[in-house]
Amino acid sequence: MARSGKVTVVGAGFYGSTTALRLAEYNIFDTVVLTDIVEGKPEGLALDMNQSRSIEGFETKIIGATTTPDGAGYEATANSDVVVITAGLPRKPGMSRMDLIGVNAGIVRGVAENIAKHSPQAVIIVVSNPLDEMTALTQIASAFPHNQVMGQAGMLDTARFTNFVAEKLGVLTASVKTLTLGSHGDTMVPVPSRCTVDGKPLTDLLSQGEIDELVDRTRNGGAEVVALLKTGSAYYAPSAAAARMAKAVIEDSGEIMPVCAWVDGQYGISGVYLGVEAEIGKTGVRKVVESALTPSEIEALKVAAEAVRAKQADVKAL
Ligand code: LAC
Repeated sequence: MARSGKVTVVGAGFYGSTTALRLAEYNIFDTVVLTDIVEGKPEGLALDMNQSRSIEGFETKIIGATTTPDGAGYEATANSDVVVITAGLPRKPGMSRMDLIGVNAGIVRGVAENIAKHSPQAVIIVVSNPLDEMTALTQIASAFPHNQVMGQAGMLDTARFTNFVAEKLGVLTASVKTLTLGSHGDTMVPVPSRCTVDGKPLTDLLSQGEIDELVDRTRNGGAEVVALLKTGSAYYAPSAAAARMAKAVIEDSGEIMPVCAWVDGQYGISGVYLGVEAEIGKTGVRKVVESALTPSEIEALKVAAEAVRAKQADVKAL
């Protein structure tokens, strides 16, 4: 496939810079732009990444650009096809994602406004925390159609769940299929009816107690990494998840992925950003895919929807 398109990654911390490198190494984009408010950091990282091109065999050009909160430097991002927003603070040990809402809302709002001004057609993928709320805020601040704004969480939570199941059973991750929906937080909804190992239901292979333990570990997957790192949060699995979503957009692949998307009637839920499965293409969310869930899974999804709805209403004022 010929290289084409431009993707911007806002925020050159570990999450942003790893995402930028993954996107460049796919060798499908013409340009990856990496921005940050720390002067020289994105330019330095871009220079370093470009110098790895001949070794790793990719030609995508990485451009670093220092930006300011009032919008200087955003010209470098102009007419991006996809934008990944990683801007904001990560958690410290003991913090919940929700503890970041006040400080990150101000940062994400400013970024969304600047991106909307320079890249009105872009599909935005939000990864800043608290994820469901920052995704809702980005849509409000950008004034983009809902399909053009989505959040990354389900891909990551599902990947964590898959890894834990594979380790527990001593099987290849490729044999395992899992699914989590709901919020990227306390009301994450694992979907046992969609979890299989080599096509066999997970419930045939593990006891309910064992599955509950893995689900709990998944729900706390981010916090477990934060507690070990002590400074900063996870970025290898999160960046892999975000980069795959951006790839699906630029390739207009139509892949069905668990993402944080605007739900409008599916599962009897309306008017909220929530983790659901969606078909991803160049317009962003082509459609939310409603799958056959058990009554208790649908009930858990509704509980998650109401929890995030309450918080998403708060972010409008932040
Ligand atoms: C995590 C953060 C990035 O789950 O939300 O690791």
